[in-house]
Amino acid sequence: MLSVSRMWAHRHLLGIEELTVDDIRLVLDAANSILDRPEISKSEDRKSGLLRGRTVINLFLEPSTRTRTSFELAGKRLGADVVNIGAATSSVTKGETLLDTVRTLDAMDTHVIVLRHPGSGAAHFVATRTRASVVNAGDGAHEHPTQALLDALILKRKKGCIEGLVVAICGDVLHSRVARSNALLLGKMGAEVRLCGPRTMMPPSPAALGTTVRSFEHMQDAVAGADAIIMLRIQTERLEGVSMATTREYSRVYGLGPRLLDFAKPDAIVMHPGPVQRGVELDPSVADGPRSVILEQVAAGVAVRMAVLDLVTRARKETPSQAVS
Ligand code: CP
Repeated sequence: MLSVSRMWAHRHLLGIEELTVDDIRLVLDAANSILDRPEISKSEDRKSGLLRGRTVINLFLEPSTRTRTSFELAGKRLGADVVNIGAATSSVTKGETLLDTVRTLDAMDTHVIVLRHPGSGAAHFVATRTRASVVNAGDGAHEHPTQALLDALILKRKKGCIEGLVVAICGDVLHSRVARSNALLLGKMGAEVRLCGPRTMMPPSPAALGTTVRSFEHMQDAVAGADAIIMLRIQTERLEGVSMATTREYSRVYGLGPRLLDFAKPDAIVMHPGPVQRGVELDPSVADGPRSVILEQVAAGVAVRMAVLDLVTRARKETPSQAVS
């Protein structure tokens, strides 16, 4: 169904950092072909059977609407048995450790664990301790690889090519796993990446994310001539000890409204991983305006996650199983 003839060597998808340009192209091509074939992504007869007999567990120990739902839809459309576990309803609330939770899931012959966790590095930790393929659905402020892949798919479909694009990523860059994964991916693909946000929300060394990644002090400079602007939510859940302006002050300096958007290219697109804090980082007229592709990002998320589930389970079949340590 996904017509993957090129090589994918990863049993897990833990971060963009581990992927080559060819890996990224492979996921984007597979997801693109799903989006172009509504009989796969939208038809009533959705169960392709590719993952029939396989079990995908969405272990989400942090809240999520988009990522969890799209992984569930992706798994079901491929014919997998999909089980959702959330923090509030799991035995984590009774003090069970992540390792014991994973060992428990492993004992049930789970094929894929899709993990969202507040701790940076949680997906890597789990990957060495389970026979299942692990897909990182967001670990702390570290990485959110499928979000970056779906953002790249939108950029490719809207702009034709990622290489040479100017992409501004603005807001709480430091605490955003989306910003990190996006900067890594866009840098690898040859886009110019501009980071902008309050000093307390900027990474100490942007160049470490890629040779084409630079930081900007002023929003006007960051968005000037940009092909795309990715706005970020303030990660309040990770802001302990960080001083910040009032919401009104933040919005005045770092929020994207129609006047600031005028500095970007006339055909620039506005992106946001969601959830949006309306009136903070995005003016509602921009969030709902003609340049916004936020809901198209959501739709691309299902296709990207179908491609990823297919690829990691194929790789798993070809990799000798490892004992749980
Ligand atoms: N973009 C994103 O990760 O959204 P959710 O937290 O709703 O999954």
